[in-house]
Amino acid sequence: MTKSSTDVAYIPLSVPEIRGNEWKYVKDCLDTGWVSSVGVYVCRFEQMVAQTVGMRTAVATSSGTAALHIALLVSGVQPDDEVLVSTLTFIAPVNAIRYADAWPVLIDAEPQFWQIDPQKLTDFLRNNCYLSNGELRNRKTERRVKAILPVHILGHPADMNAIVSLAREFGLVVIEDATECLGAKYRGHSAGTLGDIACFSFNGNKIITTGGGGMIVTSNAEWAARARYLTTQAKDDPTEFVHGEIGYNYRLTNIQAAMGCGQIEMLGAYIDKKRRIAAHYEFGLKEIPGITSMPQAPWAESIFWLYTMLVDEDRFGMNARRLVKELDTRGIQSRPLWQPMHRSPVHCRAEASPCETADLLHARALSLPCSVGLTEADQEHVITSIAHAAHAQ
Ligand SMILES: Cc1ncc(COP(=O)(O)O)c(C=O)c1O
Repeated sequence: MTKSSTDVAYIPLSVPEIRGNEWKYVKDCLDTGWVSSVGVYVCRFEQMVAQTVGMRTAVATSSGTAALHIALLVSGVQPDDEVLVSTLTFIAPVNAIRYADAWPVLIDAEPQFWQIDPQKLTDFLRNNCYLSNGELRNRKTERRVKAILPVHILGHPADMNAIVSLAREFGLVVIEDATECLGAKYRGHSAGTLGDIACFSFNGNKIITTGGGGMIVTSNAEWAARARYLTTQAKDDPTEFVHGEIGYNYRLTNIQAAMGCGQIEMLGAYIDKKRRIAAHYEFGLKEIPGITSMPQAPWAESIFWLYTMLVDEDRFGMNARRLVKELDTRGIQSRPLWQPMHRSPVHCRAEASPCETADLLHARALSLPCSVGLTEADQEHVITSIAHAAHAQ
């Protein structure tokens, strides 16, 4: 029997897919009592992520946000330093900069692939900064500029060659926020291997999940060792409880890691499914006036983590916010992109490049259901509902 639009259940934006060995591995933790942050699955999950990404070392953390916080600390970001970061992002990396007592400088997105704009980064570095005694300083604030933190948004990598060569020219560290990009490639190289250190998230909405969790990857053995130390309360002597510094309780638990081991075994299949979903949307949406499909650069292999389209109000007949409501009445969850950080009540006072592209994308972008378990019938329902919404105008 085929599903009609009236008997389709509510279609969520993105929900986890748990169909592998997760139960088996988690049960093993419960049966053996290894439930906390020590246990074989934590190390196994670290190795699996390192191998998947193609990086020497991985350090498991309790969240992607914790991973970012520690990555900033181990890569040498000091209090009062400045870090150049994407304005069009989920808030976590910008908050993490503040956790490190550093300051974000917000850089616009580029209009083609929606990632941090290398030209605006260049403009900021060349026009607003100067080199003094081997350190880069912001002319206006006189603070040291220490790092670039590009966020690969929605499963698509940023244009990293341009970013890394700027970083090398100006002596900056590159911290990749690859939390939305596990498995994506840039010119044949995995996201997470393109800068000096990178972070992943295994939050419930990510392509694979541990419920909550994160990972730092780096080929710098010293930074990795320090990350391990800081994420486990900076213990110098675990028997005598001697702590050499203020550390953090940021280690992933064995139960979460066990789930991660089950999930990462399925990553290849999940990425294939995300790409099929994207291809189906692209085909189904291309005839609808005013809708622009999610882009993919010729140099990128996107994982299309969260399928997102643009809605041009003038040509489509309604704006993206109205369409969210229309789709909701048809049992479909959709969602605009994050409020850009230069508009955020907590970060709007940060220095920023001109950010008109992020504003435009924020006004027009709409993420559509794209769970790995999405059926073709449900996806057809989403596509026809968008087409009907336009015709119903
Ligand atoms: C771009 C980005 N950075 C960081 C994070 C933070 O990860 P977590 O939720 O695991 O702390 C997320 C998502 O949650 C994210 O989308």
